[in-house]
Amino acid sequence: MARNKIKAGTNIPKHISIIMDGNGRWAKKRLMPRSFGHQMGMERMVGLIEHAFSLGVQYVTVYALSTENLKRPQDELEGLYNLIRKHFATYMERLCKNGIRLRVIGETSLLPDDVQEILRASEEKTAENTGRGINVALCYGSRAEMVRAVNIAVEKGERVTEESLSNLLYTGGQPDPDLMIRTGKEVRLSNFLLYQSAYAELYFSDKMFPEFSDKDLEKAILWFSQRTRRFGKTDEQLTKEQKI
Ligand code: FPP
Repeated sequence: MARNKIKAGTNIPKHISIIMDGNGRWAKKRLMPRSFGHQMGMERMVGLIEHAFSLGVQYVTVYALSTENLKRPQDELEGLYNLIRKHFATYMERLCKNGIRLRVIGETSLLPDDVQEILRASEEKTAENTGRGINVALCYGSRAEMVRAVNIAVEKGERVTEESLSNLLYTGGQPDPDLMIRTGKEVRLSNFLLYQSAYAELYFSDKMFPEFSDKDLEKAILWFSQRTRRFGKTDEQLTKEQKI
């Protein structure tokens, strides 16, 4: 276990995004309902975010519900909404200490009114905070996010640049994710932060989300720290830049 310990000099990602996949399969394996998997997933999500901040990560974006997930059976969706009704405000209050700002990103108008109200109230409590941040993606789809951003520019009669488009996304003003983690054995991006992840390092874990531990997060960060990030340049160019 000590093998995964984060050492001084480790390159800690500024922004980690997490596709929290595998709650349903984790619960099924234990003969439990999917809603139990989501409940355990939510608890793990809170623990991982806390651990990430304690290691020096500045932004964490979690994929809690995609636009496509809205096609799931109503009782599963109700289970997720009930988790938000019961726990979201308390958990976010616990997480958003020391100046951390919460943003809920996605087409939240598709959610029940009372759920929207809970999300809005939690966001509002942290609205003055600057610096570190948590983004919870709900009813989120990356393509829709990009279309929305372009339409904002069109309505203002502006052409977009790479930078202005980036600023019009829900994550505007934040550094792009350096490390994207997906649990649950699948190896795809599922319409998550596509524009923002142009240079993200992608880490796939076979673990189901509720069993992805703090140590597993450290292992992912150590893996990230050992990557050479060239951003399109050659190794020789990078070495030269480091010497300057
Ligand atoms: C994907 O796994 C996960 C989801 C659709 C929900 C993720 C939600 C949480 C971790 C907790 C809830 C958090 C909030 C803020 C509401 P899956 O259920 O599709 O798993 P499977 O692929 O094994 O079926």
